[in-house]
Amino acid sequence: MPGARVTGWGIAVPDKIVTNADLSLRLDTSDEWITERTGIKERHIGGTTSELAIEAGRVALARAGVAPEDVDVLVLATTTPDEVIPGTSATVQAGLGMLGGAFDVNAACSGFVYGMVVAHGLVLAGSQTVLLIGSETLSRFTDWDDRSLAVLVGDGAGAVVLQAVDGPGQLLGWHLGANGTLRDLLHCPHGGYMSMNGKEIFRHAVRAVIDSSLVALQHAGLGPDDVDLFVPHQANARIITAAASRLGIAEDRYVVTIDRYGNTSSASIPLALADALDTDRLHPGDVVLLSGFGGGMTWGSAVLRWGG
Ligand code: UT7
Repeated sequence: MPGARVTGWGIAVPDKIVTNADLSLRLDTSDEWITERTGIKERHIGGTTSELAIEAGRVALARAGVAPEDVDVLVLATTTPDEVIPGTSATVQAGLGMLGGAFDVNAACSGFVYGMVVAHGLVLAGSQTVLLIGSETLSRFTDWDDRSLAVLVGDGAGAVVLQAVDGPGQLLGWHLGANGTLRDLLHCPHGGYMSMNGKEIFRHAVRAVIDSSLVALQHAGLGPDDVDLFVPHQANARIITAAASRLGIAEDRYVVTIDRYGNTSSASIPLALADALDTDRLHPGDVVLLSGFGGGMTWGSAVLRWGG
């Protein structure tokens, strides 16, 4: 049976950086509150979901040495589409000059992990090359007068190229979960702004990351001690620390990028993964645990053996 491995990665963030100090000038908030409660110091704001996805996709394809016309399928994880119809993946497919299939995955902030499992499934079903992108512009669905949300969000995109290999490939285990009875905890109507019950999401998120990570690791025949690098969704530094400490994963084995990017929903895991790769924190043979959670609520984890 064929497996898949990541052969390229890339990111894109808007040029405009908004610091906590910038936000404190127009909102009743402070750098101290935002840093202490969330770990965020600044975020990039701007662009559209398709523009950011195209830029990140281009970088990932170039790094993998793959021409856009050789990509069989584009999987675009986003919860902030440019339009209702067409899927944002159509704009990205055309923008990249691709010929293959393209579709959106919306599992809110868990979208990249859902997409990772779907992309591996496509390879198992016969695709040679899949481009997986998480791209978001949460800023477009944020009321900038609502301090409870405005300080959290950021825009950006991260992409990976997955190519078929003979043998087992990188994916060792995975788990996807959802509980739609919690749908109202994070909500955005058509034409409106996001609203969120942050406290409740926080509570469920820590539990979801721990449980889902353990199930995915068990599926892989591994435990938390085997994890070389934990790449969690970046929604709040306190959620990351709480989940990592309960999993027994020390600080030097997990990635935090929320200070620079804020919460970029389904782009946060590929942004963090790219950061780890670009700073030489990930090596062939390493066990990588990706874990995300978000609106729905949804959650999911994937265990990969890097390289291969
Ligand atoms: O991506 C997945 C989905 N989202 C999440 O994962 C978010 C999960 N939740 C969280 O990260 C946290 O709950 C928040 C960061 C959203 C909020 O932190 P918290 O520690 O739960 O604060 P809180 O909502 O309980 O608010 C504490 C106080 C309140 O004031 P009072 O009632 O104690 O007087 C808020 O009004 O902080 C106030 N507050 C602020 N103060 C300054 C809320 N937002 C702000 C702000 N600046 N931006």
